[in-house]
Amino acid sequence: MNKVIIEPFRIKSVEPIALNNRNDRLEILYKAFNNLFLINSDDVIIDLLTDSGTGAMSSQQWAGIMIGDESYAGSNSFRRFNKTIQEFFGFEYVIPTHQGRAAEKILFDVMCKEGDIVPSNSHFDTTRANIEFQKAIAIDLIPDDFKNTQFEHPFKGNIDLEKLESLLSANSAKIPLIIITVTNNTGGGQPVSMSNIREVSKISKKYKIPLYIDACRFAENAFFIKKREKAYRETSIVDIVKEMFSYADGCTMSAKKDGIANIGGFLCTNSKKLSMKKKDLLILTEGFPTYGGLAGRDLDAIAIGIKEAMDLDYLNYRITSTAYLGKKISEYGVPVLLPPGGHAIYIDASIFLPNIPKENFPGQALACSLYLEGGIRTSEIGSLMFGDNSPHELVRLAIPRRTYTQSHIDYVVEVIKYVYDNRSKIKGLEIVEQPKFLRHFSAKLKNI
Ligand code: F0G
Repeated sequence: MNKVIIEPFRIKSVEPIALNNRNDRLEILYKAFNNLFLINSDDVIIDLLTDSGTGAMSSQQWAGIMIGDESYAGSNSFRRFNKTIQEFFGFEYVIPTHQGRAAEKILFDVMCKEGDIVPSNSHFDTTRANIEFQKAIAIDLIPDDFKNTQFEHPFKGNIDLEKLESLLSANSAKIPLIIITVTNNTGGGQPVSMSNIREVSKISKKYKIPLYIDACRFAENAFFIKKREKAYRETSIVDIVKEMFSYADGCTMSAKKDGIANIGGFLCTNSKKLSMKKKDLLILTEGFPTYGGLAGRDLDAIAIGIKEAMDLDYLNYRITSTAYLGKKISEYGVPVLLPPGGHAIYIDASIFLPNIPKENFPGQALACSLYLEGGIRTSEIGSLMFGDNSPHELVRLAIPRRTYTQSHIDYVVEVIKYVYDNRSKIKGLEIVEQPKFLRHFSAKLKNI
C-alpha cells in the first residue's frame, strides 16, 4: 500500500507557463547566441537552469514575510534568523549576506592571500572564482574513481582523505582553510558521508587548519546520510545536521537552496577575531550586521525555510522525485551521472554526443538542443563553465524545490528521449565573445 510518494503540499498560488513552439525557440536561441542565461524566462517552458532561489515558498514563509522587521539595527527578524541558525548549525557568530557568494567573498578576503591553496571535495564555480580572485589556488580532491560518471558509490561527494593528507603534509603553511561542499554540486549533487566529514575534521585539527562547510544543500546531504549510512538510520535529520556542523569551524550558506528562500545567505564562524574582521567587511559591502544586504522579511523567510527543508516527508519527496527523473531517462539509455544527485540529474554529454569534441562544448550543444526541442532550460557544467581543465562535460537538470509536479517531469523525460533518439543531428559550438571571469554566464556562441 501507499507506494506512490506524493508532493507533500497543495498548490495555493500558480504562475502560468507560456507554451511556445519550436520555430519561436529557434529564433530565441539564435538571438541569445546559444547561451541559455541570455534567454528571457517567459520563453522557457520548464526551467531547470538552477535550484537556486527558484523554489516555491510556503504559506508559513509568506506569513514570515509579513512579520518582517525592517529596522536598520537590532531587528527582530535578525534575532529569529540568528537563533534558528545557531540552534541547528551550532556556530557562535552568524553573519547574514545577500547570497552565498557574498559570504564566500568575505570569507576568502579575510582568510586567503596570494599563493594560498584551498582544498575541497569540489569547489562550486563562484567559490573557485572567489578564491582565484585572491590569487589563491582552488583544488578539488575527489577520489579518481569518482570522476567516472558511471561509477556508483553511496557517498560520491566524499573528499579523498589520502590526497588531502598528502597535500596538507607538504603545504600546510599555505593552506588557510579546507572546504567541504555538501552536497557536492559540481560533482553531481552527491552526498558526503558523516564519517568523511568526521575524518576531514580530524585531519584539519591535526594540521590546525580550520574546516568550513559550504552548506548550500545541507538538508539533502543529511537525508542521504540517514538513508545510506547505517549508523544514522534511526537518527533524526535535525540531529544529523547538528552533528555534521559540529565538526566544522564555520560555514558559508546560500539560503537560495536549502533555505528555500528566493534570496539570502550567511557566513558562520566560531572565531571571534575572524567574525570581527568579517563584519567590518560586511559593513563595507553588504550592510549592517543585523541585515547584511537583506530585508528583514528575507531573514524571516530563511529562518522558516531552513526548518521546512529538514522535514522528513519533504526530503523523502524531494530526493525520490529527483531520482525518478534520473531513473526514467537512464532506462531509456541516456547516460546520466550515477547515482542520481539530490537536487539535480546530470547528463554526461561526452557519452551522449561522442562525436562532439570538448573544444566544441558538447554539454552546451546538448543544453541548446533540449531548449530547442522542448523549451527546457538546463545548464552546462563542463568546458564552457570551467575551461579546458574541466573533468566532465555535463548538462545539469536542477530541480527547483516544490515548484514542478510529476507531469512536468514526465514532459521533461519525453523531450530528453526525443533529443536522444535524434542525437546524431546535434552540432558543436564555438565561442565568439567571452568575459574574463565566469564566462558561461555571458559568453556568446555560434554553431559550427
Ligand atoms: N556553493 C554552492 C555549492 C552552490 O551551488 C552555489 C550556487 C553557491 C555556493 C553560491 O551561492 O548563488 O547564493 O551566490 N549555486 C547555484 C547553482 C547558482 O545553480 O548551482 P549563491
